[in-house]
Amino acid sequence: MDHVEGARTFSVAGSAYDSFMGRYSVPLGELFADEAGVAAGATALDLGCGPGALTEVLASRLGPDAVYACDPSPPFRDACAARLPGVVVTLGRAEAIPFADDTVDHALAQLVLHFVSDPSRAATEMARVTRPGGTVAACVWDFADGMEMLRAFWDAALSVDPHAPDEARTLRFGRPGEIAELFASVALEDVAESTLSVASTYASFDELWNGFLAGIGPAGAYCVSLDDEDRERLRAALFQRCGSPDGPLRLGALARCAVARVPAEPSPLPDGPNAASR
Ligand SMILES: C[S@@+](CC[C@H](N)C(=O)[O-])C[C@H]1O[C@@H](n2cnc3c(N)ncnc32)[C@H](O)[C@@H]1O
Repeated sequence: MDHVEGARTFSVAGSAYDSFMGRYSVPLGELFADEAGVAAGATALDLGCGPGALTEVLASRLGPDAVYACDPSPPFRDACAARLPGVVVTLGRAEAIPFADDTVDHALAQLVLHFVSDPSRAATEMARVTRPGGTVAACVWDFADGMEMLRAFWDAALSVDPHAPDEARTLRFGRPGEIAELFASVALEDVAESTLSVASTYASFDELWNGFLAGIGPAGAYCVSLDDEDRERLRAALFQRCGSPDGPLRLGALARCAVARVPAEPSPLPDGPNAASR
């Protein structure tokens, strides 16, 4: 999957996204905002806001007027703007964030970095729109293990198709150290890593399966690309991996997170008798 396709698979209704991924990203947003130190009185950007899971957390902590959001998906931009009147929500990509220098105290990207075409550019842009001394933060699912919904899906897919594009193989930033290395590489300071853990309960296996049929993200796109026979084989394999549940099931989801500080501006040289000679 290339990055353009990665972004295109988010051109869906916000409600479909919320049933599939928003059920995790809403609780994740609270933990992520805590980790980034978002507290009353500050301003914040939600980069790649989707339908507004994290935006809502930010608006409730800071007030809508203090929150900025952008996303390249028109339906997600519209859904976020409708959900959160008062928040500035625009179309925009991480590689060229549509806000001025030093706009916010915190720039956050929740479950976004792995989809951007130029992560260094994105991190530089996040730092640019954040005031000196402010924080830049990102989190991405641990695709290899801790995000159980996607792990079960890709393990099932690999069992019927060894070439299935497992996100643990195709996407970056879900492993320890990857986001921190990116932040350090663009001269952000005081980089701190953590893990964020959430969970979601499905009423039934069908509720889980129907989420993939919406075609969202790499897993959904792969699922709907299969013919009926292969998709039924995948469904059966996933059902088995989930323990063949005949009632509710609960899946955990772990994200890798890093928070860093934008370097403070150098202190101005003191005025004094020699100032004119500088
Ligand atoms: C998994 S969703 C996360 C949405 C939201 N942050 C959340 O936590 O629910 C990934 C989001 O990244 C957006 N996206 C994809 N490519 C992007 C890019 N280059 N710059 C900014 N956002 C991008 C998608 O449109 C989508 O809304």
